[in-house]
Amino acid sequence: MSRPALESPALRLGIAGLGTVGIGVVKIIQRHAQMLSARTGRAITISAVCARDQNKARDADLSGYAWETDAVALARREDVDVFVELMGGHEGVAKRATEAALAAGKDVVTANKALLAHHGQALAETAESLGRVIRFEAAVAGGIPVIKTLTEGLAGNQIRRVMGVMNGTCNYILTRMEEAGLPYDTVFEEANQLGYLEADPQLDVGGIDAGHKLAILASIAFGTRMAFDDVKLEGIGRISIDDIRRAGDMGYKIKLLGVAQKTGRGLEQRMTPCLVPATSPLGQLSGGTNMLVLEGDSVGQIVLRGAGAGEGPTASAVMGDVMDIARGLRLPTFGQPANTLDSATPAIASAPAAYYLRINLSDKPGSLAKVAAALGAAGVSISRMRQYGNANMAAPVLIVTHKTTRDAIDHAIDAFPATGVVEGDPIALRIEEV
Ligand code: NAP
Ligand code: HSE
Repeated sequence: MSRPALESPALRLGIAGLGTVGIGVVKIIQRHAQMLSARTGRAITISAVCARDQNKARDADLSGYAWETDAVALARREDVDVFVELMGGHEGVAKRATEAALAAGKDVVTANKALLAHHGQALAETAESLGRVIRFEAAVAGGIPVIKTLTEGLAGNQIRRVMGVMNGTCNYILTRMEEAGLPYDTVFEEANQLGYLEADPQLDVGGIDAGHKLAILASIAFGTRMAFDDVKLEGIGRISIDDIRRAGDMGYKIKLLGVAQKTGRGLEQRMTPCLVPATSPLGQLSGGTNMLVLEGDSVGQIVLRGAGAGEGPTASAVMGDVMDIARGLRLPTFGQPANTLDSATPAIASAPAAYYLRINLSDKPGSLAKVAAALGAAGVSISRMRQYGNANMAAPVLIVTHKTTRDAIDHAIDAFPATGVVEGDPIALRIEEV
């Protein structure tokens, strides 16, 4: 690729959304104008901006830019080459404005994982049929350049597995519960006060936001059409401080872990709380940080770690995309032409694994034998077990199984009520080999 001559025309942006990320992008462009043009061979300028409320105080001087009240109008402006969508939401204005920008011949940069997870295939096909590009580094794991790593650095690898912690808020909640010994509800409220939670907190704690990110990574890694609806989702709302402590006693940490892999059973995509060895890089990840573990047939395993959210890291990723466009780099949206992506068969069941079970057992003779019998009847073999002392008449019992299927675990759990010795709902968490 030849470097554009220094006299190349400026790349003119229209930025829709002036919140955390949008203002971060404006600040980088204002702070580093000279450096950006030295690196790309052309000036990067902002023609116009747009948000809901023009009178809101914002942490950047916007007086030099035209103001649009309508993001669709911004997307169509003659003086805009790249439409930068930083509003969020997978329906409504973000989708309409992105479509309008492509139809008007603009390239698009977005941080919107929900939009891509739901409409990525259609948007990519539209963009590619019109010769436009859509870039979205900021949509997955904030400042970590995982999209670039997969589509460029690892392009010569057959990817075997993509795995990681992709929601900083959930990782903050889980590690804060552990470090401060606080219950889930207290830490959830703390996260809320700190402004960590999405407007709809279920997007974070329900695993949906991270599920969006995993679906995007899976599409690139495996050359498959976006299949967010096939991601098995489970949030962190049922994880108790006792689970975290007891998993710790057995040498594990609990993480909201995303795993995508292609197996003989089809494409497996899951975003669920899992146990990982406490000594592994994933086990040692604390606070709001993200970590991606990528495994390719030639490269082996690589680990990327960094800030998954926040003004600076996310704006950094947006700017990487803008600069690639300024340099003339034009790649298919998901690493290969969208109309060549396969429709992957979703795996009906996940690969076998060891499981952690937490059961509250009536503390009376024969209870353990009845539970062991129910597990045995379901074909689940016990590897390790520990019973904790109890003040009441129910004793928490922890079981680590040998490798088994989730179906077998569910079968055993379904049989527990008939034993008459299991109190409440047991917890079953997969132990991931990392
Ligand atoms: P935000 O702080 O809530 O800002 C959203 C911006 O969009 C606001 O400026 C808002 O206007 C504007 N907006 C909303 N609806 C609009 C409409 N109908 N027309 C015009 N403007 C509209 O959100 P954010 O955190 O910057 O996130 C932006 C995008 O980046 C989202 O897709 C998010 O998922 C993604 N993202 C964010 C982070 C992060 O750390 N924050 C990380 C990765 C990805 P007003 O200011 O006038 O209300
Ligand atoms: N809510 C997301 C998180 C923001 O906590 O990771 C970044 O996508």
